[in-house]
Amino acid sequence: MAETSTQSGGRPSLPMQGVPQPTRDEVLNLPRVHISSHPVMAHKMTALRDKNTAPPEFYRLVKEIGALLAYEATANLALEDQPIETPMGPMMGRRLAGGIGVTPILRAGLGLAEAFREVIPDIQVWHLGLRRDEDTLQAMEYYNQLPHKVDLQVAYAIDPMLATGGSAIDAINILKRRAIPRISYVCIIAAPYGLLKLSQTHPDIDIYVAALDESLNDKGYILPGLGDAGDRQFGTF
Ligand code: PRP
Ligand code: URA
Repeated sequence: MAETSTQSGGRPSLPMQGVPQPTRDEVLNLPRVHISSHPVMAHKMTALRDKNTAPPEFYRLVKEIGALLAYEATANLALEDQPIETPMGPMMGRRLAGGIGVTPILRAGLGLAEAFREVIPDIQVWHLGLRRDEDTLQAMEYYNQLPHKVDLQVAYAIDPMLATGGSAIDAINILKRRAIPRISYVCIIAAPYGLLKLSQTHPDIDIYVAALDESLNDKGYILPGLGDAGDRQFGTF
């Protein structure tokens, strides 16, 4: 788990204390939000959340869940014709029309980026480092490897956890400064608070979620959640 952060006076900081939050039911049917209902996803999510799941297994599960999310999030990509010859003769094949960019929000998004690469090996990976200040819950940019010239049909911002929505909203703002025709956001667990914020701030993107949880605690952690997704992937407890 993340260290307990304190404000300057040494008091534990509880930035979400008293902040009104929407219920799960209130955000279940938001436009352009896709919440997985696949039984295999539910099965893997239980193993992922379990506190006894150690980092090697946790990372493996992030990649498996990421591959399922990648299939769901790429289901409506545009195709173009490609004539080929099979050993039996000519046929008109289909291939993805235009490039695909994936922006993992560091560092917890790295496992999901691996999953997307396994599903579509020739994606471009644009690393974006955003770190949430645990006192204010504001996201701070510390690394940006986004190219300035882009030629993509879609870019995906990917991150396991959508908590207050600050990191996701900033990542989409950064992607929107590039001329990308379509932007989507993919996460493993969303809190109703962050999901509503993201959907209201960026109503023009699709949002793919493996599981919608109940709420945020006073520190801004998702309940029941899985703890700190970065620490659990990389063993930095
Ligand atoms: C976590 C998580 C998201 C962010 C979500 O990252 O991976 O990026 O917090 O919180 P938010 O919705 O309230 O912005 P963190 O900043 O802890 O960095 P890490 O990936 O290095 O662990
Ligand atoms: N980041 C995490 O890793 N977990 C949470 O519950 C919230 C933000």
